[in-house]
Amino acid sequence: MNIVPTIIVIFGGTGDLTWRKLMPSLFDLHRDERMPKQFAIIGVGRTPCSDAKLRERFLAGVKRFSRKGMAKSADWNGFARHVTYQQGDYSDPATYSNLEKSCAKLEKDWKMKATRIFHMATPPALFGVIPKMLTDAGLNRDRAHVRLVVEKPIGHDLDSARKLNRTLTESFHESQIFRIDHYLGKETVQNILAFRFANPLFEPIWNRRYVDYVTLTVAETVGVEERGGYYDHAGALRDMVQSHLLQLLCLVAMEPMVSFNADEIRNKKVDVLHAVCPIRVGSVNECAVRGQYGIGRLDGRPVRGYRREDDISPHSPTETYAALKLFIDNWRWQGVPFYLRTGKRMARQVSEVAIQFRAAPHQSFPPESGRDWHPSCLVLSIQPEEGITLCFQAKYPGRRMLLRPVEMRFNYEESFGVPSPDAYETLLRDVMDNDPTLFVRADMVEAAWRLLMPVLEGWANDRPRGFPNYAAGSWGPKAADELLGRDGHFWRPSA
Ligand SMILES: NC(=O)c1ccc[n+]([C@@H]2O[C@H](COP(=O)([O-])OP(=O)(O)OC[C@H]3O[C@@H](n4cnc5c(N)ncnc54)[C@H](OP(=O)(O)O)[C@@H]3O)[C@@H](O)[C@H]2O)c1
Repeated sequence: MNIVPTIIVIFGGTGDLTWRKLMPSLFDLHRDERMPKQFAIIGVGRTPCSDAKLRERFLAGVKRFSRKGMAKSADWNGFARHVTYQQGDYSDPATYSNLEKSCAKLEKDWKMKATRIFHMATPPALFGVIPKMLTDAGLNRDRAHVRLVVEKPIGHDLDSARKLNRTLTESFHESQIFRIDHYLGKETVQNILAFRFANPLFEPIWNRRYVDYVTLTVAETVGVEERGGYYDHAGALRDMVQSHLLQLLCLVAMEPMVSFNADEIRNKKVDVLHAVCPIRVGSVNECAVRGQYGIGRLDGRPVRGYRREDDISPHSPTETYAALKLFIDNWRWQGVPFYLRTGKRMARQVSEVAIQFRAAPHQSFPPESGRDWHPSCLVLSIQPEEGITLCFQAKYPGRRMLLRPVEMRFNYEESFGVPSPDAYETLLRDVMDNDPTLFVRADMVEAAWRLLMPVLEGWANDRPRGFPNYAAGSWGPKAADELLGRDGHFWRPSA
């Protein structure tokens, strides 16, 4: 347990993220005795609210979203007394002088300097305002004790991301800034590093000599839900590829780190983004596919199309599906295509990376032995299944030599017998421990935007024709299958 007293100030204390993710995770950390002995959580918002009302709302969130389920009242009461609400406008200096007074009082009571964590869980339009106001109030000064947490999205494009990073670093040192991509907090995502670099078995074949191609899929069955207003201005490329998918790509393709040091790991990751062959604006259609879902069926029930969702323009050109084909220009990966795809209202919720190995160089078995013959494939399943599967050929029992595909599986829960913590539990605990390994550095954010800018510009200048172009409940537009089909490759999972 961390012994440093900690004050967590959540701007956007009345908001959805706080209710759905932050408070259930903080409460679960408390139940696991992983919160500091002395801590305080101050929710900040403009809405008039009392401590009691806020706690009531948070308890409802815990009941719905906590990994550990219902709260025992003794546990909840023990936690809730640490939670208070402060009403205030984010651009009013009084909000910040009041916060300073609250923090100073807590430190006086605890007779110790506390770690102060300012978590921006507000709409991104406020990401520039809050750090500046914290600076004006002198709340950013103590570099050793003050941290700033920033939720995604970091910018809307390269220029806005650079501008936001400049604003953040005018007020805080980069080492104090924790940019969240919650995918990085998932156990299965962290396990990519363990799997690759703790097992010398795989590293020698993790390269262009043995790997034919790689597919990375983040498929959702949900539509835009209540996020239509945001999503219609963002789209799949900004919302998912710029962050989660490119972070996954980095972990799969990076060189081994020399030590388990936050900056060493992040340097190796950003090297991947720097090595990706730039996409030319003129050739976007050769390596990128976009799509938008229309009406369809999911789990046997009819589903409306994107343009009929709440807060979505009936003529919206926003993509709800994006696929990219990328190459990494280095010794390890020269010539190996990496196919990335993400979509809403897809047939199944699944996030996985599939490493497709090359075919055997010489086929010694008679042609009739391999009816379902496929080269070996290694699947890193991120969610909802959590594990690793190696798919290979084996002899079918009997007198004849018949080859059939089989699977060797590792499943997290079966192997370890303990449930994985929620990604936010891991990330919030890491902020308290001042460990930035799983957070996104300014240069990584900008490198990711730089890579995608030609696609964003190409798509903005060429209004999509034929939207909607995939049915809700399907695996996306036909053009995305053709993107791989042209190379003789296919997506995994394919159905
Ligand atoms: N929700 C999620 O699951 C999720 C997941 C990943 C990342 N995020 C990111 O986390 C951040 C917060 O998301 P959220 O869904 O919690 O947002 P939200 O519920 O829309 O807003 C959070 C709070 O900010 C205040 N607010 C809203 N609009 C405002 C405005 N125009 N001016 C000033 N204050 C305003 C509101 O509090 P008051 O009116 O009381 O001030 C609101 O309760 C966003 O950057 C989002 O992209 C959210």
